[in-house]
This record gives sequence, C-alpha cells and structure tokens, in this order.
Amino acid sequence: MIDLRSDTCSRPTPAMREAIAAAAVGDDVYGDDPTVRELEAETARLLGKEDAVYMPTGTMTNQVGIRVHTEPGDAVLFDQAAHVYLLEGGAPAALSGVLPRTLPGVRGVFTPADVEAAVGRPHRSMPSTVVLPVRLLCVENTHNIGGGSVWPVTAVREVAEAARKHGLALHLDGARLWHACAATGVGEAEYAEPFDTVSVCFSKALGAPVGSCLAGPRRLTDRARRFKQQFGGGFRQAGIIAAGALYALRHHRERLSETHALARRFAEGVEALPGVELDLDTVETNIVRFRMPGVDAGEVVDRAYERGVQVLPSGPDGIRAVFYLDISPADVDRAVAVLGDGPAASA
Ligand SMILES: Cc1ncc(COP(=O)(O)O)c(C=O)c1O
Repeated sequence: MIDLRSDTCSRPTPAMREAIAAAAVGDDVYGDDPTVRELEAETARLLGKEDAVYMPTGTMTNQVGIRVHTEPGDAVLFDQAAHVYLLEGGAPAALSGVLPRTLPGVRGVFTPADVEAAVGRPHRSMPSTVVLPVRLLCVENTHNIGGGSVWPVTAVREVAEAARKHGLALHLDGARLWHACAATGVGEAEYAEPFDTVSVCFSKALGAPVGSCLAGPRRLTDRARRFKQQFGGGFRQAGIIAAGALYALRHHRERLSETHALARRFAEGVEALPGVELDLDTVETNIVRFRMPGVDAGEVVDRAYERGVQVLPSGPDGIRAVFYLDISPADVDRAVAVLGDGPAASA
C-alpha cells in the first residue's frame, strides 16, 4: 500500500527505533525525564524561545497554546480554514470557551487589513465591558488546508505588527514549520520570533511516532504545564517517545526538501491527467491538493485504494496527497499511474 493520506502515516526508521530502545527515562510529571528535558531544551533553542513543553499531540500544543492566552468569553482570530479552528474537534470552544473570529485568508495567508477589520475600532463612547474582547491571533505555517502553503516571513511580521498594535497575543501553529524553513531558507527562530507561543510537531514528515512541543517564554510555558496536566497530557516515562522526536529533529529536518521534490513530481504527473485541475504554483512543500470537477472524489479514493494507493478526499471533487520520507519516487509514479487509470481518465 502506498499511503499518501497524511505525513502522520510516516514510520520510525530502524535507527530511530534504536534511539527509542536506548532512551533514558524518568517520570515526566515530576519533571525528571531526561530525554523529555533534552528534547524540550533543544526545541526551545532552535525556535529561539526560553522554554518548550513536550505534549502528546499537535492538537494539545495548539489548544494549550490558546488556553494560556485566553479566558472563557474571549475571542480568537483564526484563518477561516485554520486547522486549530476546523480540525481539532471544536476544542477552542470546548476547552477554552473562546469565540472564533475568522479571517479571509487566501490559502491560509491573510493580511494586516484583515486583522484590523476583525479587531474593529473601539470608540470611547462604547463601554469596553460590552465589546467582544479579541485576545489572540493564530497563524498556521505551513497551512494544511491551503495545500502546504508557506507564509513569506515579511507577511508574518506585518500581521504580527497589526495584532500587537491592538494588544493581541500571538500563537503559531507550526506543525509543519520545518517545511516553511526548508522551502525558503528562513530559520525556525526567525519565523518564530513574532510569536509568544509556537507549536511544532515531530510526528508528521519528520517521522517521529508521537509528539509536539509548545515553545515560549517561561511565564507562558509554566502556565502551559498546568494546562497540559489539566487536559490529561501528563505522561510518565515519555522519554521513550521523546527519543524518537529528538532523533527526528536531529536527523530528518534537513531531508525535508526530499518530500517537497516528491510532491512536485506527483503534482506534475497528476496535472497532466485528463480532467484534473491543479495549479502547480500552489505546490510549495509536501502537500498536494487537486480537483477533478464533475468526478466524485470518494469514488476516486475507493478505486485507488483497491489498487494499492491511499489518498484522502477533500471536498466533493477534491483530493489530497501528502509526502514524507518513507515514500520513494517509484511510489509517486505508481500513484500517478493508478490515479490516471481511475475516473479522472474518463472525465
Ligand atoms: C497544521 C496542523 N496543526 C495541527 C495538527 C494537529 O496535530 P496532531 O494530529 O498531532 O494532533 C495537524 C495535524 O495534521 C496539522 O496539520
């Protein structure tokens, strides 16, 4: 089976498994798992932040990130297709009691004017007690539903400046920040700099089996440790999995451009198929999204599955494929051939 549903389907390599088997461990709830501590310190250093907190999932690091900045009744600015808003099970409302204000991003990238419009213009004649308190702006880089789109670093700085002007806190969902860095040459710390908190994932194309970190200043990570525990994330000998994350961080980050080349190879193959709509300029990192107008995406997915290729439907006629280090160029060519033989060919 060639599994292109998500880069979360990546598997630990034999060398990563060795690192996992040899991991020194302790009880993370007591703060004495040495491998977790090492991963947190190394991640914080890389992101240019004071501290980082290791948690089981990117959903948890995002949602704890929201919780540390807000109180129930506050509003949060999200891109209209943000993962943290659309694909985390309603958690902002359930866990933090916050209200979403969505921004009209284009493939996840919005503008300072969008931020200004959402915050509004408080006037002294309007009592501050009645106005919806907007507290936090979330940015996603790269953007999943946007098709792995990359924020230019200047655009990040501009929206951050607009948010700061209104006293907003800033959170980055950097589940795939590594890919933005690989695509642009901009360093992780430079991308992270405008944000108070930054979530990064090790379990996607980096290939670790489990986990994410939330990085920020210690005053916020201390608060994050409290909510990590409250949300049920106090895991004990977590060094077992942190060792995989540490291995991924040290050995796989610099290989991510290989996943971008696979995505491009796939996109070029699929774009040439009859009935496919795919703008190659939108393929910036390791995610490819394309449409087959008039074709039922669910049927394409089912048919491809029967022939050994897994992709995901995204909308009635849309398909998503995601690339990671376990996938070879031959797998890509096989996937294109299988898709070319499906309903797309007869559309
Ligand atoms: C952009 C983005 N943020 C957050 C997450 C959540 O990560 P997890 O699956 O570890 O909860 C994902 C998962 O795919 C994602 O794509």
